[in-house]
Amino acid sequence: MSLLFSSTTLGPLALQNRFVMAPLTRSRAIGNIPNDLMVKYYAQHASAGLIITEGTSPSPNGLGYARIPGIYSAEQVAGWQCVTKAVHPLGAKIFVQLMHCGRVAHPLNLPAGARLLGPSAVAAGGEMYTDAKGMQPNATPVAMTEADIKSTIDEYARAAKNAVTAGFDGVELHGANGYLLEQFFRPTSNHRTDRYGGSIENRARFVLEVTRAVVGAIGNDRVGIRLSPFGAFNDMPAYPATEADYTYLAGELNAIGLVYIHLVDHSSMGAPPVPESMKATFRRVFKRTLILSGGYDAVRAESDLAADKCDLVAFGRPFLANPDLVARWKAGAALNAPDMSTFYTPGPKGYTDYPTLTV
Ligand SMILES: Cc1cc2nc3c(=O)[nH]c(=O)nc-3n(C[C@H](O)[C@H](O)[C@H](O)COP(=O)(O)O)c2cc1C
Repeated sequence: MSLLFSSTTLGPLALQNRFVMAPLTRSRAIGNIPNDLMVKYYAQHASAGLIITEGTSPSPNGLGYARIPGIYSAEQVAGWQCVTKAVHPLGAKIFVQLMHCGRVAHPLNLPAGARLLGPSAVAAGGEMYTDAKGMQPNATPVAMTEADIKSTIDEYARAAKNAVTAGFDGVELHGANGYLLEQFFRPTSNHRTDRYGGSIENRARFVLEVTRAVVGAIGNDRVGIRLSPFGAFNDMPAYPATEADYTYLAGELNAIGLVYIHLVDHSSMGAPPVPESMKATFRRVFKRTLILSGGYDAVRAESDLAADKCDLVAFGRPFLANPDLVARWKAGAALNAPDMSTFYTPGPKGYTDYPTLTV
């Protein structure tokens, strides 16, 4: 297990190992503000090399789910500051994942005055949990005007500056799993006929403009992006040009020079697998750090690192249920199993009470 446990770098940052805690929405942010319970949770995970936070909205309009945090208000920034102050002395670096849910949302989850937006007025199939009325169908979004697009890009850039103020080492743009950036990129959710829809150059325009704006705000060494080519979550069906489209995106992102691309393969959760050829394309085209994630254990992580398929590996459910994952795998100890019934429930149960080896 020499590579996984060995220190490395991410752009200018020193990482204590190659473990990445994958972004995990946990819905504990009452009022969309990070709190003391979340400080405790992130501190528990600080033996990772890099923590990527749960999806965090850059705008009131992006808060599709119940109790997810934001990073657009002073109160939210102050809450996140407590998280980064607790994590850094324990050794991990920490990026905040900027997640604008777009059409994967319900008005009951949005604060007063927020707008449910998407590239086109096409609802995602499926349902959304609301605290007020339980499961509800995903709502139909309002198709964004060019003015909406511009103000949303500005929100991303402001959120990135807020992230730096809050002490984060950087931001991860959530370009995966059916949220706003992917909604623009995929032809099944983007039916626009203007310069943001149609050809791949047009469908990629929004994600690339957001990326350039965020890089302009905080610098390319502080910006990564998560992508899910072949991901099907949130009503994103496969389409024939997937591999060609994502190859184009890899090239454009490489030209911008982000610090990392984080690819997710959700075949362990029922999605079609990401073909090896697609992962190899990203490895070849993108010259900076590549993170792979989805269904990894220590053995597979070590093997993919040794084969130079990636530089870092992100773990989701293993980290969720084992805050001391690094120590457990180092000791060859068994893992706690994740309890799905408490993934998104408020309070400490199933959040900060997973036993550690020393308890
Ligand atoms: C409870 C839960 C919440 C998640 N929330 C997010 C999220 O906020 N952002 C994201 O990009 N992925 C999210 N994911 C996906 C994970 O980051 C990861 O890709 C997935 O769990 C597969 O990796 P694993 O097999 O190591 O668990 C979530 C997964 C789970 C189980």
